Amino acid sequence: MKTVLTGITTTGSPHLGNYVGAIKPAIAKSQSKDFNSYFFLADLHALIKCWEPEKIAQSTKEIAATWLALGLDTEKAMFYRQSDIQEIPELTWLLTCMCSKGLMNRSHAYKALAAENIESGAKDPDKGITMGLFSYPVLMTADILMFNANEVPVGKDQTQHLEMARDIAARFNHHFGNHFDMPQTIVAEDQAVLPGLDGRKMSKSYNNTIPLWLPEKKLRKHIMKIKTNLLEPGEPKDPDDSFVFDIYKAFATKEQTQIFKQAFADGIAWGAAKQELFELINKELSAPREKYNELMQQPELIEQELLKGAVKAREFSVPFMQELKKSVGIRPIS
Ligand code: TRP
Repeated sequence: MKTVLTGITTTGSPHLGNYVGAIKPAIAKSQSKDFNSYFFLADLHALIKCWEPEKIAQSTKEIAATWLALGLDTEKAMFYRQSDIQEIPELTWLLTCMCSKGLMNRSHAYKALAAENIESGAKDPDKGITMGLFSYPVLMTADILMFNANEVPVGKDQTQHLEMARDIAARFNHHFGNHFDMPQTIVAEDQAVLPGLDGRKMSKSYNNTIPLWLPEKKLRKHIMKIKTNLLEPGEPKDPDDSFVFDIYKAFATKEQTQIFKQAFADGIAWGAAKQELFELINKELSAPREKYNELMQQPELIEQELLKGAVKAREFSVPFMQELKKSVGIRPIS
C-alpha cells in the first residue's frame, strides 16, 4: 500500500485551478484501494507569506469546507490541519539540523526574491526575507516525511522542494538509520494546469483566478471575461490556441471535447462557446456548491472533522516521532 500526501497553503479562496489541478485528482486517488491518503491544510506555511490573521482563518475554513463539499471520504483519507500535528514542527527542527544552508541558498524561490531585491537597488539582497520563507522547504519536507509519503502530487513550481526533501531524508537516513522512504514527485499533467482569465497559469499570485464557489450568475460573468481573440462568429477557431477550450477540456469527457472541437471548426461564436463552458462547469459544481454553503454555515462540523483527522494522523506521527527522537539520541535516561 502506498501513501499519497499533499497540502494546500491556506492563504486564499479556492479557485478552479486548485480544483482541477489538485483537489479533484487527489480525491479520485483517495478512493483507490492501493493508497493511503493524507491531505492537509498547510496553515503553518501560510504564515510565511501572510500576516493577516483573519485571512488565514477564513482561508483555512474555506479550503477545509471545499474538500468536504467535494466528497472527500474522511473515514478513509486522513484530513487534517498541519498545525494540529505538533510532531511536524518538532520534526522540522531535527531536519533543519540535517539541512545544509547551501541547499536552501539554491532554492529557486529564494533566489528569485534576492534577485528582485538586487534589481530594485536594495542594499541587502535579503531585504524582507524572513527565516520562515528561507527555510520553508524544510517545513515542507517535515510534512512529507512525517507520514513517510511515497507520492506527492504538486505543481511544477514545487519540484525543487521535493528534490530537497529527498536530499534531507537521505542525509538523515545516512546518519541515524533508515527511517524515511524517498518521496516521489507527481507533477500534474499539462491538462491539469488550468489557464487563468489572462491565459497564464491560474494562480492567486497572478490575480487571474475564477473562484470555485461563485454563485451561478457570477461564475457566468467570470467565464465571459476569459481572454479570446477577435475572430467573428462563423470564422473557424483553433482549439489549440484557446483558453476557453483548455478549460473546457479539463471538465469534459472525451466525447464532449470532440464535439466542442468540431464546434470550433464550424466557427462557434466566442459568447456561445463561453456559455457552453459555463454550463459544463456549473453542472459539475452545483451540487457540491450547496453542500459547501451548508458547511460554511456550520463551522463546528468542519472543526469536528479536522480534529478527528488530527487524532487519526497522530496515531502514526506520535510513535514515529518517538522513534526518530530516539534515533538521534533524545531518549529517556537509562
Ligand atoms: N508548498 C506547497 C505549495 O505552495 C504546499 C505544501 C506545503 C505542500 N506542504 C506540502 C505540498 C507538502 C505537498 C506536500 O503548493
